[in-house]
Amino acid sequence: MKPFEQRGHAILKRLPKNAVVAEIGVLMGVLSEYLLSRRPDIKIFMVDNWQTADKQPAAYKATGDDHALHADPARVASHRSQAESRAKRFAGRAIIVPVSSIEAATTIADGSLDLVFLDADHSYDAVRADLSAWLPKVKAGGWIGGHDFENPDPRFRFGVCQAVDEWADAAGRVIETDLNYTWFARV
Ligand SMILES: C[S@@+](CC[C@H](N)C(=O)[O-])C[C@H]1O[C@@H](n2cnc3c(N)ncnc32)[C@H](O)[C@@H]1O
Repeated sequence: MKPFEQRGHAILKRLPKNAVVAEIGVLMGVLSEYLLSRRPDIKIFMVDNWQTADKQPAAYKATGDDHALHADPARVASHRSQAESRAKRFAGRAIIVPVSSIEAATTIADGSLDLVFLDADHSYDAVRADLSAWLPKVKAGGWIGGHDFENPDPRFRFGVCQAVDEWADAAGRVIETDLNYTWFARV
């Protein structure tokens, strides 16, 4: 399996019938496409703000993550148009939300999601902010999770692990890890 298929597999096995999902940070929409094509019953909010490096937060750029460092507007626009094209294949089930994670969360009803997958800005403060913005959106018994937990790549490892571990300890939640550095916790 390719890495995005591994992430997809880890998500799919946790989805109930007719699940409503939010993927936070979709890049070109490859993971959402994988999920939507395998599960005709689900709906996904595809959240990404597709910004060039000059508009990215300093802490995100400091992680060294390539996605924070794209200087070429054409490249970022191409990521967005690829995600939009993929979403079009699943009309009514793929909803592009082209704003920042925190702003997107304000547009989603509390307790309405079965699973949120955090894969945007991996700096410590951003992961904390994403957790606090998106947790209320998940139904009781649903899942919050994300990518790059315990990834040995230092660009991703520290912010995600620290923020997720601190939240889990404080909230008394158990973290399950799965394929391709994914993590999940029951809400
Ligand atoms: C690692 S990529 C996502 C990969 C995707 N989840 C996948 O599995 O194919 C990270 C994405 O997060 C987006 N992103 C970063 N910070 C964001 C923020 N604050 N709000 C929304 N999207 C953000 C970036 O534009 C980038 O496209």
